[in-house]
Formats: sequence, structure tokens, C-alpha cells
Amino acid sequence: MTYPSREQWLERLRNNRVWKSIFRRGPARTNRTRSLAIFGNVFLHILPVKVREKSLRVRATYYLGPFAFFLFVVLTVTGILLMLYYHPAAPQAYYDMKDLRFVVSNGVLLRNLHRLAAQAMVVVVFWHMYHVFYRGGYRPPRQFNWVVGVGLLLLTLFLSYTGYLLPWDQLAFWAITVGTNIIGYVPFIGHRVRFLLLGGNIIGGNALLRFYVLHCVILPLLAAWLIVVHFWRIRKDGGLSTGENEKREERESIETTQVEQEAVTVGVNDERKE
Ligand code: HEM
Repeated sequence: MTYPSREQWLERLRNNRVWKSIFRRGPARTNRTRSLAIFGNVFLHILPVKVREKSLRVRATYYLGPFAFFLFVVLTVTGILLMLYYHPAAPQAYYDMKDLRFVVSNGVLLRNLHRLAAQAMVVVVFWHMYHVFYRGGYRPPRQFNWVVGVGLLLLTLFLSYTGYLLPWDQLAFWAITVGTNIIGYVPFIGHRVRFLLLGGNIIGGNALLRFYVLHCVILPLLAAWLIVVHFWRIRKDGGLSTGENEKREERESIETTQVEQEAVTVGVNDERKE
């Protein structure tokens, strides 16, 4: 009895309805089919079709942006795990912290991972911003993404700040007292913002609950949404800046968009033919 060869197995695997319904196109051998393969994949389509060789060098980014994103993921995962052991109520929140330290297995590791990643994220995001600025990443066509980045920086700082109250210990209580008192001095709106943030005039159970909701739901969702916009803009602005002539970069970014549109049209026409 002869067994089918590797090629025959592959042929059988690919030549059926189920396979073709998932993988619409054949192997990507030309630039056009490579582009279409990227557009047709939900995970890959966020990547640019073309990248400049220079932007792949380590010193183009020092991987600071990806590292900031990695820290955001670590914070999300450890934050969700911490939520399993935490009640946002006074004084239970403080006892939960003690339990994390003395009762929960690996509780200290979990809490420290979350705290260290939070501190590292503030440093890395600042560093990333400095590096982007140094390479002229704020200039056209990336000016909008720069503003999105500023939003991300503010969210990172605000996430750190709201997380500070949650342990409900002396350090947390007095740090937030000082912080919210400073907010209260902002002319006209300061005392209203302070009242809104604390859910009253004093730092008590209401303030803890509001900081918890901000820290665990509202701010992370806003940050995740802005990160998606940030990544999407990098791709739409023609990839990373190379610190070269901005007019040329702007022209290339427009060209990249045209290539994309052309490839999409070709893809739609191909599908119609099929
Ligand atoms: C949560 C925080 C942030 C994350 C996860 C993040 C992520 C990234 C990533 C992955 C890149 C591409 C690779 C790189 O350049 O390192 C990037 C590029 C960029 N980021 Fe951020 N970023 C953040 C905050 C910021 C901030 C605070 C700014 C500036 C105010 C900023 C402005 C930019 C700009 C303008 C680019 C394009 C850079 C270029 O074309 O050279 N980002 N970011």
C-alpha cells in the first residue's frame, strides 16, 4: 500500500470547503497577495503593508512603546487577579491587603507585580514620549497621534493616582488627602471636582468606591480604547517616523494609504469574481 506524499496530504487538506471558507486566498507569493493576506486577517490588518527598514532598527524605538503596552497587559492581568481578593469598602479593603500579605498564596508576589508594573509603566511611558519627541514624532503627519499619546500619558498618571487610595492604609489616606486638597484649589471648578471625585467632602467609603470604579473600570477601558486608536494611527501615518524629511514622510504616508485602497479594491473585485 502506498501512502500519500506530504504534498498530497496538503492538497487534500486545502482542497475542501471548510479550509476555503476560512482561508480565502492561496499562498502569498507576490507583493499584492502579501498585502491582501494582511488585509484579510483580523490580527494582521493592524500592521502596515510596507515598513521602512530604518524603523525596524532597535534604536528607532528601543521597544519603549511595545514595552509600555506589555506593562499595560501585565497590569490588566494582575489587576483582575487582585480583584478576586479585594472589597472596595472601608475598613474591609485594609484587611484584604493584610490577607493578601499573610493568607493568600503568592499574594505578595501578585501585589508587588502590580505595583512594580505600575511604577515601571509611568517611567516607560515618559521615556517613550521623550524618545518620540527626540525623533520628531510629533510633527505632521503624526500630530494627532501625539495628542492621543498625551491622553495616554494623563490616563497612566491618573490610573496610578486612583490606585493609590485602594490599600486604605495611612499612606493612601494622607496621599489622597493632599492630592484632592490640591485639586480643590483650582479656581472656580476645583471644589466641585473634589466633591465629585470623593462623593462628599471627606475621604471615606464613598471616595474609596469611586476611586475603585475609576481605577478598575472607567480608566482602563478609556486607556484600552486610546491604545487601539494609537496603534491604528501609527499604521495610518505611514509607520514610524525615521527622523527624516517630514514632507517626504507625509508623501509616503499618503502613498501607503493609496496602496491600501488599491489593494482593498482589488480584493473586493477578486471576491466578486469568485
Ligand atoms: C499607554 C501608553 C502608550 C503606549 C502603550 C504606546 C505604544 C506605542 C507603540 C507600541 C508605538 C510604536 C513603537 C514605538 O514607537 O515605540 C508608539 C508610537 C508612538 N507613540 Fe506611543 N504609546 C504610549 C504613550 C505615548 C505618549 C505618552 C506619547 C506622546 C505624548 C506617544 C506618542 C507616540 C507617537 C507620536 C508614536 C509614533 C512614533 C513614531 O512615528 O516615531 N505615545 N506608541
